[in-house]
Amino acid sequence: MIIQKTENSRLSEFDPNNFSFGSTFIDHMVICEYENGKWGDVKLVPYGPIPFTPAMMGVNYGQACFEGMKAYKDKDGQVFLFRPEKNFERINKSATRLAMPEVTEEMFLDGLKALVDIDRNWIPQGEGMSLYIRPLIFATEEALKARVANKYMFAIVATPAKSYYSEPVSVKISDHYSRAANGGVGSAKAAGNYAASFYPTQLAIEEGYEQIIWTDDATHEYFEESGTMNVFVRINDTIYTPPTSEKILDGVTRDSFIQLAKKRGIEVKIEPVAVKTVVEAQKNGTLKEVWGVGTAVVTTVFQALGYEGVKLELPRLSDDESYAAILKKDLTDLQNNLSDDSFGWRVVVEKDVLETV
Ligand code: COI
Repeated sequence: MIIQKTENSRLSEFDPNNFSFGSTFIDHMVICEYENGKWGDVKLVPYGPIPFTPAMMGVNYGQACFEGMKAYKDKDGQVFLFRPEKNFERINKSATRLAMPEVTEEMFLDGLKALVDIDRNWIPQGEGMSLYIRPLIFATEEALKARVANKYMFAIVATPAKSYYSEPVSVKISDHYSRAANGGVGSAKAAGNYAASFYPTQLAIEEGYEQIIWTDDATHEYFEESGTMNVFVRINDTIYTPPTSEKILDGVTRDSFIQLAKKRGIEVKIEPVAVKTVVEAQKNGTLKEVWGVGTAVVTTVFQALGYEGVKLELPRLSDDESYAAILKKDLTDLQNNLSDDSFGWRVVVEKDVLETV
């Protein structure tokens, strides 16, 4: 790994009590370029812009995918990643689906550890605080022919994070727009999936909702995801979540919630979730909770579901009664080294890892 440390750290300007998620970047980033059929050296360099041309294939044809993951700092200053191998596997699945080269474990995991280590002082400590890490791959070739590019960049950037979307939100059950289709790229973390979701989300916001529950493109009769998250529904004391498929992202937080719920003895059913079933359960009072899970927000609880022009209200449960709240705490305690890690999900980021990579 080639290391170029910054001479102008911005850390002293960073106020961990007052920053905005996603627009404050740590001092360094990782970059690696792909050309002539192979990846070059991994470089850890000062964070900043890279000159590109508007004729870059990544922006013209959308060959771009990313990951979202976090690093956490416990009260003793020890730093952890959470299940990073899952993100490594998934970025390569996304890359393959978008006809981009896979990254190596060394590039991904060693790059990640080196970046988090060198900028460990940027990781905010305390409840809900973390460093959000964004590995990405995009086509950089300067060419306008619509074909697979032959130049790419792998990069890792990171931004301090705190909990957001803390208030329950209203979501519209989509009856027209879809996030994904059979045979499409829904299970990839393709940049274009997010681009395609913005317009329908804007329309939902104009109607008084904050997010959309995406339904299947063929019938709109089944839940798929919510906003940028996987979705969970609780009817009586059973949790339901749709199975992952080529339309549904295999979320790390989703999988962690399922395993944590099972550990608590909560019944989890991974099966198609029909809009009709959820609406009927709301009407007969058995629908207890609906929530989304993702790396960035961990959990967003829904207070109302928009269906056929009506807002169906959901009960407001206390943190002791809410499975969403209980499982979120189980997960964040584990991530923050506040509980035993019986699953082996925490990965320590050693100090001065740069000496060894
Ligand atoms: C995540 O939870 O990591 C996401 O995908 C949300 C992100 C687009 C901000």
